[in-house]
Amino acid sequence: MARPLLFVTRRLPDPVMATIRERFRLFVEPSDDSPTREALVAGAREAEALICTLTETIDEALLAASPRLRVVANCAVGFNNIAVSAAKARGIVVTNTPDVLTDATADLTWALLLALARRIVEGHALVQSGRWRGWGPTQLLGTDLTGKTLGIVGMGRIGQAVARRAPGFEMTVIYHSRRALPDSAQSSTWRSVTMDELLSGSDVLTLHLPLTDDTRHIIGREQLRRMKPTALLINTSRGPVLDEAALSEALRAGRLAGAGLDVYEHEPRIQPELMGLAQVVTLPHLGSATLATRSRMGMMCVENVEAVLAGRPAPNAV
Ligand code: GLV
Repeated sequence: MARPLLFVTRRLPDPVMATIRERFRLFVEPSDDSPTREALVAGAREAEALICTLTETIDEALLAASPRLRVVANCAVGFNNIAVSAAKARGIVVTNTPDVLTDATADLTWALLLALARRIVEGHALVQSGRWRGWGPTQLLGTDLTGKTLGIVGMGRIGQAVARRAPGFEMTVIYHSRRALPDSAQSSTWRSVTMDELLSGSDVLTLHLPLTDDTRHIIGREQLRRMKPTALLINTSRGPVLDEAALSEALRAGRLAGAGLDVYEHEPRIQPELMGLAQVVTLPHLGSATLATRSRMGMMCVENVEAVLAGRPAPNAV
């Protein structure tokens, strides 16, 4: 039987590509870069299955021009890049990659938080510059985390994994989530609070929300004003949940002590005002970027595609 025709938009880790080449016919050999819109349309038009990433927009027009397409497997947990209802209306299954990236993303959240609180990036730059003159009693003084309050916006899988790492730092966890946590997920030491209490009570505020119409700019000028001027803000979710212009204003006015960002409103562009600020640490969207995690995500896409093409329910349909 002929292997099904699959369009993979970008090169995935080698073990995943090896499995894909064995089980499918590839429309084109993917490269590290995102395809042009024309290449994406051309591939989706022919293929029975599409494995894409968060950098490709899978909109209604593209789906309408793809008569053979049965499944779109997004190699990401967030799926704001896909017109899900338009896909459903055409009988095209959309899948994502939950769970497997939870720990990697929670780890990266803490990496950003520690980098910011302890001025790791500035320290590295100083040593590398060759201008370091030795230990100094007032050099690069940071912020203690022990005993502070960690505020979490969005207590889904990743928010919970971030909270589970907090006891090691003896931090108190407060959170605000639209959905109540199931008892099995609840910890007696986490406290659910209103958004106002979260904003005013957090020493560190970290965002773990999907991007939807309701969450766009959920942290804007108003919300930033209610935060402590000593607070640190971390975002490893999706850039547009945070108003970047309002953030840079708050940082420059000293109304917020620092920000650790892995995601941006208009990736790969970033507000020019956020460049060159010592109290900002910026990463290039690395939340799930470990070899093991990205390989699991890729394999999950393969499993979802195979299930749909075999007429079985997709394990991770959204
Ligand atoms: C990454 O940003 C993801 O949504 O998996």
